[in-house]
Amino acid sequence: MTTAAVVPAAGRGERLGPGTPKALRDLGGLPILVHAVRALVSARSVDLVVVAAPPDDGGVDEVRLLLADHVPMANVVIVPGGSSRQQSVALALDHLPITVDVVLVHDAARPLVPVELIDAVTSAVRAGAGAVIPVLPVYDTVKEIDPGGRVVRTIDRSVLRAVQTPQGFDRELLVEAHRKAAAEGIDDLTDDAGLVERIGHTVVVVPGHEEAFKVTRPFDLVIAEAVLARRRSAGVMA
Ligand code: C5P
Repeated sequence: MTTAAVVPAAGRGERLGPGTPKALRDLGGLPILVHAVRALVSARSVDLVVVAAPPDDGGVDEVRLLLADHVPMANVVIVPGGSSRQQSVALALDHLPITVDVVLVHDAARPLVPVELIDAVTSAVRAGAGAVIPVLPVYDTVKEIDPGGRVVRTIDRSVLRAVQTPQGFDRELLVEAHRKAAAEGIDDLTDDAGLVERIGHTVVVVPGHEEAFKVTRPFDLVIAEAVLARRRSAGVMA
């Protein structure tokens, strides 16, 4: 029985500003996606990494070229993604070998995820949880506002958690959750655990890691560069 990690990287997202797509932005000399795939390949618990590439002409070759120089490709498969993140994950699931019984889904935009977190999520699924998400406390006060920008209420943050990836699943459960969502015409949910919640299955949490943060805004890249520099000076391969 084996574990596969799916990386939806088929978007051409521009939230970091104009220029290169987010997953291809440079972080310490390598594209963000390369860091993410390298972390997954290095994790002891992961046997196969499936990357969903942009489905347009040349997308798969582009991603293969990008990865091949920096990642051992023996256990990496690149497939064309879909028109939403959810569809890209579903298409990657279609490509999994029959032996795969645990699936992780990891954001390409979380390049510095520690291997320990990847292995912890896999272990929790293997220990019997059907769906596992890494979470961190929410440190800021969180308020609900109305469309006019006025505060409606303050939310009790002690019951809130910020969710990271990789999220881990029993393969059959995740496939079923995607199948049901698609059958109901839902095709743009960005949270795989959310799809599992929709079909009434319990989702279990494990402690997340601050270095598994998502690189979304330009400021996040500054932090990512600092984390990478600290790892390199500590002699950790990155
Ligand atoms: O654009 P956004 O930040 O919401 O994308 C989240 C993740 O989903 C990115 O890693 C992106 O590459 C991926 N994605 C995908 N297929 C799409 C759209 C987005 O794999 N069609």
